[in-house]
Amino acid sequence: MSKRISIHGQWSSRLMFILAATGAAVGLGNIWKFPYLTGENGGGAFVLVYLLCIGLITIPIMMAEVLIGRRGRQSPVNSLQTLAIEAGASTQWRLLGWAGMLAGLVILSYYSVIAGWILAYLMRMVTGVFVRVTAEGASSIFTQLVTDPERLLAWHTIFMVMTIKVVSRGIRNGLEKVVKILVPMLFFLLLVLVVHAARYGDLDQAVDYLFHSDFSKLTPAAVWTAMGHAFFTLSLGMGAMVAYGSYLPNGVSIAKASIVVAVLDTLVALLAGLAVFPVVFANNLAAGDGPGLVFQTLPIAFGQMPGGVFFGSLFFLLLVFAAWTSAIALIEPLVAWLVENREIERIRASIWTGIVAWLLGVVTILSFSNWSFSFNFIGVPKRHGLFDVLDILTSSIILPLGGLFMALFVGWVMVRESVEDELGGLPGVGFKLWYFVIRYVVPAAMVLVFLQVIGVL
Ligand code: PFF
Repeated sequence: MSKRISIHGQWSSRLMFILAATGAAVGLGNIWKFPYLTGENGGGAFVLVYLLCIGLITIPIMMAEVLIGRRGRQSPVNSLQTLAIEAGASTQWRLLGWAGMLAGLVILSYYSVIAGWILAYLMRMVTGVFVRVTAEGASSIFTQLVTDPERLLAWHTIFMVMTIKVVSRGIRNGLEKVVKILVPMLFFLLLVLVVHAARYGDLDQAVDYLFHSDFSKLTPAAVWTAMGHAFFTLSLGMGAMVAYGSYLPNGVSIAKASIVVAVLDTLVALLAGLAVFPVVFANNLAAGDGPGLVFQTLPIAFGQMPGGVFFGSLFFLLLVFAAWTSAIALIEPLVAWLVENREIERIRASIWTGIVAWLLGVVTILSFSNWSFSFNFIGVPKRHGLFDVLDILTSSIILPLGGLFMALFVGWVMVRESVEDELGGLPGVGFKLWYFVIRYVVPAAMVLVFLQVIGVL
């Protein structure tokens, strides 16, 4: 088959793809979610399972997604459809792209609300609100913010506008320009924060907490959460990497680029743990406080340490950058599809997509006040009503399922020669191993974990 070119353009280099995909991968998932999930699920054993899932399941799937994109050279929906036709399979495979686009929209809706909290916290940090704040003070500042729908709506709107602005400018003028600056800065800020945490926090306890595995705390639900998070953190299962792959120049090794992105993403999650937990432990605060960890616990810690205003502000700035470069990836599949199928300009496609995600965001905003309720999910208490429902539906269900189907598509549906051709850089043994993992190991591992969660095993 002749090599196509995407109508949306191409990354200007391999490095640009790596920066953009790392920007998509490194987000709230790494710096906000990973530390609190680790805290909620008992520390080291959770981290170990998460690392295993990254290595065994999600890196091979990432390669599969990028490959689908580069081979199809269109939005995920259209790439899946084209490749299914090429393989003589059902065009219904495009539904996988549809599920992903919708998941992206839903994730963006709540992602933007949380990013709004971060913008609000950045303001508070910079203005010294948290200096010597007490535990009660920090908790009441957090509660005041999340139970004030008007304020949340304002911050959510600002973040959504930031996102739409970048996406509407396209690959070279929008996405590349932003990631080129923000991703390197993000790494720099994180390193500064880790060094600071090591000097003023309790690094030993944090290392012990993150890397000492106590398997008695590892429930089936925690294993499922670790796996879901491995998908969420690498932005898999919903087509973002398919879209980014469709802009990848020919000749770039998909295997190498994917591994670099996954390693950088994992590094950021672990470094984020090393930036957060030493500070938490040095102040005798609890690690298992859930989503409030970086909002309620960290400000107390920063409020008490030398240079806290400066370093606390850097921390929230880091979170803003991370969230921004991820949010743009969440709607890229849908925007690309609208441009291809509805023949509207990118700017209009981005604005409409943004408006829908913005409206949906109101659900999350109200989850923390007027519409709040609690429920149990596979034995884990959830306190934030519809926000938790959306989060579970996307990260724990749609993304893993979407990823599984991407693996099945590449492993069992696509023409093997096309797959091999796209992974050109991979030596023979490497390809055979990867293909075996995608065809057998990934589906088997995921089904086993699932059966364990529902109590069959
Ligand atoms: N990987 C992002 C994070 O860890 O925060 C979340 C995400 C971004 C998921 C973009 C999916 C996506 F398309």
